[in-house]
Amino acid sequence: MKQGILIVFEGIDGTGKSTQCGLLAKSLSERQVSNIALAEPTRGTWGTKIRRLLSEGRQGVSPEEELSWFVNDRKEDIEMNIMPALQDNKVVLMDRYYFSTAAYQGALGLDSKQIQLENENFAPIPDRVLIFLTSPETCLDRIESSRDHKSAFEKLDYLKNVQKIFKSFEGPNIRFIDSVDSVAEVHKIVLAETEDLFDFGVK
Ligand code: TYD
Repeated sequence: MKQGILIVFEGIDGTGKSTQCGLLAKSLSERQVSNIALAEPTRGTWGTKIRRLLSEGRQGVSPEEELSWFVNDRKEDIEMNIMPALQDNKVVLMDRYYFSTAAYQGALGLDSKQIQLENENFAPIPDRVLIFLTSPETCLDRIESSRDHKSAFEKLDYLKNVQKIFKSFEGPNIRFIDSVDSVAEVHKIVLAETEDLFDFGVK
């Protein structure tokens, strides 16, 4: 049985979601709320294979094959990290989860709705999904100033399609956050969009 609280940070590269994930983890720790921050792709066997694909390009790897790597990585992550932490009653903060798979692999031409449904057959459903939105042009500028080169996943047209899919998600657990303001301002929004999940006010 799932206990704990699962909060997911999603959005295209350069929206600042990883920074915000880290800041919420810090806020929770300061309030003695037991939490763990995880990220996908992981550093495990499948995650390592994926990272090689990211840095070296797809080189003949089909979208279906790529999708299966992300799914395998997630299954391992759920079994080894996510479920144990939830059962331990922790707040689990995920930097990317299956919404990224639906959006990124969906933008390669696969059926994003089906990817979402297939993942929901084995993956715990998050209590909250924060989807960070920034214009893809701004995101690419941010990426370019922080990295030496773009990965295969960071081309403008592709990111536009990915963000379009992110915007199409709906449900009671989904929240969209415009991440154009300062890091501190966006952090306040993150707190406001999650504090009802905790039995105390995070301010
Ligand atoms: P990212 O969060 O940017 O990792 P890092 O900060 O370590 O570079 O994730 C790497 C890329 O993986 C990113 O461009 C999105 C992509 N991705 C998918 O295509 N599908 C998925 O299911 C996930 C989790 C990530």
